[in-house]
Amino acid sequence: TVEELQTALESFDGCALRKTATNLVFTDGNPDAPVLLIGEGPGAEEDRQGLPFVGPSGKLLDKMLASIGLDRSGVLISNIVFWRPPGNRTPTPQEAAVCMPFVERLIELVDPRVLVALGGPAAKSLLAQTDGVGRLRGKWFSYSTPGLPRPIEATALYHPAYLLRSPGQKRPTWRDLLEIKNKLRAGE
Ligand code: URA
Repeated sequence: TVEELQTALESFDGCALRKTATNLVFTDGNPDAPVLLIGEGPGAEEDRQGLPFVGPSGKLLDKMLASIGLDRSGVLISNIVFWRPPGNRTPTPQEAAVCMPFVERLIELVDPRVLVALGGPAAKSLLAQTDGVGRLRGKWFSYSTPGLPRPIEATALYHPAYLLRSPGQKRPTWRDLLEIKNKLRAGE
C-alpha cells in the first residue's frame, strides 16, 4: 500500500537530501484517486509540514484543481524527490534517480487514470523526454512499467511556481487542465 511504501521510505538511507531536510514529504490526497500529480520536490513550507504542495505554489495548485472541479480528495500529489533540496535547487539527476523506484512503485500502487507531471524536471524524468515543459505540455504520453496492468495516459503542466512568476502562461495551462478534465470524463 501507499502507507507501506511511506514506511519503507522512512527507513531509506539512499538519498543524501534526507540529511539536510527536516521531514520526509511523500504524498497528500487520496491514494484511490484517478489523478496522480507529481512535482519537482518539497520547498520550505512542505519540509516544515511534511506534506507536498502546501506553500504558495500549493495554493495555486489547489485553485488549478478547483477550476476543473477537483480537490485533494480527488487527486494524489507527490514529487520526484521526497526531501527538500537545500535552497530549493532543482534535484540532481542522481537524486531523482535514487528516488525513482519509489515514484514508480507509487504510480503502480495508485494506478491512476491520468498521470500529470508538474514542471520540467518532473516531466523529463517521468516522461523520459529531453524537451522542456514548454514543449511537453499539451501533449499526451504513455507511461508504462512492468508492474502496471496497462499503460497510463500521462501529460505535463507548467509548474505552479512558474505560473506565479509568469502569469501569462496561465491561459495555455487552463486549456491543458480542460484536456485533463476531458480525459477523465471520457473514461467514466
Ligand atoms: N514544488 C514542488 O514541486 N513540490 C512541492 O511539494 C512544493 C513545491
